[in-house]
Amino acid sequence: MKLKVLIVAGDGIGPEVTAEAARILRSVAEWGGHDFEFHEALIGGAAIKAHGTPLPTSTLDIALESDAVLLGAVGGNEFNSLPPDRRPEAGLLQIRQALGGFANLRPAFAHPALAANSPLKPEVIDGADIIFVRELLGGLYFGEPRQWDREAGSAWNTMRYTRDEVVRVARVAFNLAQNRRKKVTSVDKANVLEVSQLWRATVSEVAKDFPDVTLEHQYVDAMSMHLMNTPRTYDVVLTENLFGDILSDESAVITGSLGMLPSATIGGQVNLYEPVHGSAPDIAGKGLANPLGAILTAAMLLRHSANLEQDALAIETAVRKVLEQGYRTADLARSEKDKKMILSTQAMGKQV
Ligand code: NAI
Ligand code: MG
Repeated sequence: MKLKVLIVAGDGIGPEVTAEAARILRSVAEWGGHDFEFHEALIGGAAIKAHGTPLPTSTLDIALESDAVLLGAVGGNEFNSLPPDRRPEAGLLQIRQALGGFANLRPAFAHPALAANSPLKPEVIDGADIIFVRELLGGLYFGEPRQWDREAGSAWNTMRYTRDEVVRVARVAFNLAQNRRKKVTSVDKANVLEVSQLWRATVSEVAKDFPDVTLEHQYVDAMSMHLMNTPRTYDVVLTENLFGDILSDESAVITGSLGMLPSATIGGQVNLYEPVHGSAPDIAGKGLANPLGAILTAAMLLRHSANLEQDALAIETAVRKVLEQGYRTADLARSEKDKKMILSTQAMGKQV
């Protein structure tokens, strides 16, 4: 199996966690006799410092020639005063758009070994296994016009979706549900927003092609509560861009830490793989970052870009075993027993 992987580590803890994901990919390659080729390029704050732009064309060119792109995280406090289109985060939006993936898959799974880490009761999260399908190229993050008119003291962004954009991401959600528990929960705000009315009508239409899958609709405000009260009742959760961003971070409460969440963006020219968390400047450079989200992201890469399902499962099993053996990163250590088993970012990667 030949695979060309571009690693764009980015800022803060990005380089620390992608190094561990790459370590796992290298050992999978060695173990399975695969020919994985790794390249590295700059994005975000690191690219601004070196090239004055958050997504240099050199990075984009090599990304478009790769089979998969593994991204760490971007952003740093020193850039916070810049306007959105010049910040490190602009590089992230640009690479997402250029690679073309519109369906961002974000699994949130309650690891039994981490049950005590969640502030939710074990009986509430026990068995929770959700996959968010977040639309990634539309909505407020990309809609035009967008502006902050400082003189007028007003600012606006545009939430816009076309029917076709909703159809294609809804089909991804229903296809996934067919191989899971056959339930899609579509999240919107159709009681207030026209965009959400289009969303709801279109998702209902797509559902007719999947008679074996149950569709339910939820308003995003109610959903943010249901997710914490009854996480086990959800299977595939389909959302537009902003709602998915918010709800998937909320789901970190189910898994025990934001550092546990992986993601894969599919449907475009090149798939993009990134842990859900950001650059975490508060813990960067200290070996404190949890690499498991990035490592589980590497498993998704093998699953969706290399068709190596067994290898993906082997990584997921290794993560589960390491947690069952009691190993923790600092964010996962709550009890006194946990605190005796804290590993650095690198040591956790090696343990997996
Ligand atoms: P964040 O996700 O970086 O951090 C939120 C909290 O979770 C922090 O307390 C952090 O220490 C902790 N955390 C996150 N990942 C962790 C890990 N792997 N292990 C242990 N603890 C972890 O979000 P925040 O603080 O809102 O944003 C920081 C910067 O990251 C900002 O510049 C933001 O724009 C950027 N960001 C970038 C994203 C990306 O590149 N995909 C996504 C979200 C934020
Ligand atoms: Mg986010």
